[in-house]
Amino acid sequence: MTTRIIPVKPFDYVVFGGTGDLARRKLLPALYHRLRDGQIPDGARIIAASVDDLDTAAHQRFVREAITTFVPDDEQDAASLDRFCAICSHIQVDATSELGWPALAAALRPGPPIRAFYLAVAPRLVGPLCARIHATGLATPNSRVVIEKPLGRDLHSARAINAAVGAVFAEHRIFRIDHYLGKETVQNLMALRFANALFEPLWNNAHIDHVQITVAESLGVGTRGSYYEKAGALRDMVQNHILQLLCLVAMEPPDSYEADAVRDEKLKVLKALRPIDHSNADSLTVRGQYTALRTEMTHVPAYCEEVGGRSTTETFVAIKAEVANWRWAGVPFYLRTGKRLPERVSEIIIAFKPIPHSIFGPECGAIHSNKLVIRLQPDEGVMQWIMIKDPGPGGMRLRHVPLDMSFSEAFQVRNPDAYERLLLDVVRGDPTLFMRGDEVEAAWRWIDPIVDAWEQDGRPPNAYTAGTWGPSRSIALIERDGRTWHEETV
Ligand code: BG6
Repeated sequence: MTTRIIPVKPFDYVVFGGTGDLARRKLLPALYHRLRDGQIPDGARIIAASVDDLDTAAHQRFVREAITTFVPDDEQDAASLDRFCAICSHIQVDATSELGWPALAAALRPGPPIRAFYLAVAPRLVGPLCARIHATGLATPNSRVVIEKPLGRDLHSARAINAAVGAVFAEHRIFRIDHYLGKETVQNLMALRFANALFEPLWNNAHIDHVQITVAESLGVGTRGSYYEKAGALRDMVQNHILQLLCLVAMEPPDSYEADAVRDEKLKVLKALRPIDHSNADSLTVRGQYTALRTEMTHVPAYCEEVGGRSTTETFVAIKAEVANWRWAGVPFYLRTGKRLPERVSEIIIAFKPIPHSIFGPECGAIHSNKLVIRLQPDEGVMQWIMIKDPGPGGMRLRHVPLDMSFSEAFQVRNPDAYERLLLDVVRGDPTLFMRGDEVEAAWRWIDPIVDAWEQDGRPPNAYTAGTWGPSRSIALIERDGRTWHEETV
């Protein structure tokens, strides 16, 4: 099966922080893939802007190293790499002084019609960079800006970022990346819901018992300790990725697949989330932090060891959320995410209600409720769990099995990284898969009281051993309601 390429117009991508980790791991490999697939037009340029004093040869080495390290071997070829290097350049620019701005302005003049500024920098530099882009006259009416998380650490700081960026760029020119929205299966969730007649009539509290969203990671915090210490799992994963997934599951059908139609509906979901604060946080939320796993064979360090001292930052969070509207009243949304869990898996589970009456006797076996499993990673796919009769003689024996739609098995195409899609959506000027400023603020408005409640409570997070599914309180959170976290058993 061939990949369909939708051409884009020539562009300049100016990547501030263009020699940093995000550029190296994600942005350059993503743009390389697009070039290799034939989607980068003649005349397009990628201009790294950073405070580093790099000559051309050193920058070319940086680009080559990024591609050879982060693109799988079988997706590299020398000709594409040469062509990619030829469109990459570097200019030394300082966000906080005049250094490099005249050179950048000269490099961009005359440029292709589309100009995108990617601010892959620390949040404190976002405001100064926007101000200098404006002062140097670089923000043409057709320019756009891309910003990355963390988009604040609370409502107040998020508003400040929105204001600083909004002072220079109109809202429809601001692309706030949540890379989860670029994941293939996340987009598939929309296809599933809105390109099939099957699900929508069932997609409500009359038929759905509850929803689970799990984003589990097996790795620890690694080298990102200093960022993570100030964030924690709630800010790092729930405020953005998990709430975005929840919105896509819970939103009303938008009237079109047009950016504001989709984002208006997501915003309504965020506003309908029942508040969690000091009055109910203890029963609706669980915080955890991983401790070391020591066996004869392995030693997995505790989070505290990784960040070099005592810490009360949570590396795991589970929440029982509710979307308080007609469609979802009474349907719990169980959310959980954590680091150092047994495996890397991200899934959305739609658990349907049990059948109202069984015509089968106990000898036929238990009847499990239907479940729709939307698996984001690994092995993207959709599974509809149903009851069938076990084949063969021996009477009626019921069995719970998945109708399994694994994308890698069904389609012989490379699954593109989220950034490939998102970076080119910026060029196309399509913000559908990006967060609007009011969405980000609404998400913080729900998160902030949870943080406040935890701070008031003052207790440290519950310990869980690295390699387990979080603290036992997380299991209790769902089992108290007579339900269990989804585990795959055929
Ligand atoms: C990032 C978080 O946004 O998402 C990281 O800051 C996390 O802590 C990462 O590891 C997970 O992304 P993915 O695509 O690997 O699931």
